[in-house]
Amino acid sequence: MSIKNYTRRKFIASVSAGSLAAIASGAIPALGKTTGNSGRLAILGGTPAVPAKIFPEWPYVDQAMIDAIVKTTRSGIWSRIQSKNGTVPTLEKEYAALMGTKRCVTTGSGTQALSCCVEALGIGAGDEVITSPYTDMGTISSILTARALPVMADLDAASFQLDPKDVEKKISANTKAIMPVHMMGQPCNMDRIMAIAKKHKLRVIEDACQAHLAEFRGKKLGTIGDVGSFSFQTSKTIACGEGGAVIGNDEALMDKVFTVMMNGGNKVIGTKYRMNELEGAIILGQLAGVKERFATRNRNAAYLTSRLKGFPGLVPQKLYPGTDSGSFYIYAMTYRKEYFNNADRGKFLKALAAEGISLSPYISNGLHREPWTEFILNHDVYKKMYAPERLNRYRDELNLPV
Ligand SMILES: Cc1ncc(COP(=O)(O)O)c(C=O)c1O
Repeated sequence: MSIKNYTRRKFIASVSAGSLAAIASGAIPALGKTTGNSGRLAILGGTPAVPAKIFPEWPYVDQAMIDAIVKTTRSGIWSRIQSKNGTVPTLEKEYAALMGTKRCVTTGSGTQALSCCVEALGIGAGDEVITSPYTDMGTISSILTARALPVMADLDAASFQLDPKDVEKKISANTKAIMPVHMMGQPCNMDRIMAIAKKHKLRVIEDACQAHLAEFRGKKLGTIGDVGSFSFQTSKTIACGEGGAVIGNDEALMDKVFTVMMNGGNKVIGTKYRMNELEGAIILGQLAGVKERFATRNRNAAYLTSRLKGFPGLVPQKLYPGTDSGSFYIYAMTYRKEYFNNADRGKFLKALAAEGISLSPYISNGLHREPWTEFILNHDVYKKMYAPERLNRYRDELNLPV
């Protein structure tokens, strides 16, 4: 079940982290089979394949989380500036340890975490950052708030991730960074992206907002580029409502990230992007079980993939060689209607919902098709900062066939 407030996408069906827990428990019969009623589909009056209420509730809540928030509420320490040992500084130490990085700086959201990275790297007016149009708007707004230009590259249709070939094509003299987005929490083609960044001397800001604990070639996502950003928004596999974090090993750069988060200073411009202590408490209260839940999701995803093998109607998201694990924030697949009597996707999703399996179409449209692009191209500040030729070319480059 994907989270309701996401917009929809044309050809992807997706199942959320919570649902994956039930699949591997064996509680859900094989896809495509129905129970009882001589195999009639539930939408046609048969018995649903999946008994009601089998999927776990999301977000995950347990007593340790409740105890942690009660304790913080009673302590009166609600802001990180009240104590060096409060929940937020403690979370920063624990999250860095979990990720195996020297440093972690928490923020009020994943978008703020990305913004801290953009500012800390000195990216601003006149600069360009190459990223994906298939993402949350927070990815793009973190570039826009620095008044830089978010340049959209096309996707690999099988993985739904940035296509490195198109990334390289989009590099200009003003490109400062690539912001790969690990969609659904599975790794982008980081071998190619890092090679391109090295060749063109570009910085890499990993948008690992969906990718907690996932690994590529033995490295956690978020630790491969210069800096990595995470979201702890309610839907995520580590969550506190609204929250975020930046991780990294470059001490000087992470000092700048910290300063951006704390209103800026004499080296970087910033604003107040602090996580509050109550958010810190909710996350600290759930960290003990995150590795176990991550392992369960990976087992469940592998099981689902094995059951879909050889079934051409639903093709799981392609994982690149080097993928050790994914966060499986979402399990995504391509729906091929030719294998379902040409039933359109909406109809298929309704039939599945009747069986008790709630999949969603996730993001329907690349964000390059949303009205923000024309707004920016006609914005006085952007017209001052970028030549008309560049803005016209930007509009042309929004034609992304995949
Ligand atoms: C890929 C991606 N990037 C950025 C964000 C922004 O994070 P937040 O909502 O915490 O600001 C999200 C959140 O959904 C996301 O999924």
